[in-house]
Amino acid sequence: MAASVAAAGGGAVTRRLLRGAARGLRGAGGGGGGAAAEPEGAVVNVVFVDRAGRRVPVRGRVGDNVLHLAQRHGLELEGACEASLACSTCHVYVSQPHLDRLPAPDEREDDLLDMAPLLQESSRLGCQIVLTPELEGAEFTLPKVTRNFYVDGHVPKPH
Ligand code: FES
Repeated sequence: MAASVAAAGGGAVTRRLLRGAARGLRGAGGGGGGAAAEPEGAVVNVVFVDRAGRRVPVRGRVGDNVLHLAQRHGLELEGACEASLACSTCHVYVSQPHLDRLPAPDEREDDLLDMAPLLQESSRLGCQIVLTPELEGAEFTLPKVTRNFYVDGHVPKPH
């Protein structure tokens, strides 16, 4: 059962502000940098850090969705909206330099992150992260709490 809290107050800092500040510090460097065509399914080793601080090394594959990968390995990443970009219960913190290698979040992801408790500069939605070879060695840390403002009390229906 995932740790959910009702309205954690939320600081005055929004995801956009955090990201803007981070960009300013980082300058214009980095970026996706078109990875060479890796064979689909190549192994990508990542580490999840669960809510208790336990490190869980996982062998993922190129094309894996981080939310589903975490769930396959028994981590408490809720994914209440089933990756339909309508909640923030798949919130994770992404290690550097891997964070900078991800495509920028779209407007909707940013909006949802703004409502996530314990927002950090490295916050992203796990269901929007797809493993690529550049994410080898990445760490995805689960925040201590998530807030399910979308489907509180609702059990997702299987498709
Ligand atoms: S599972 Fe709901 S936005 Fe990722």
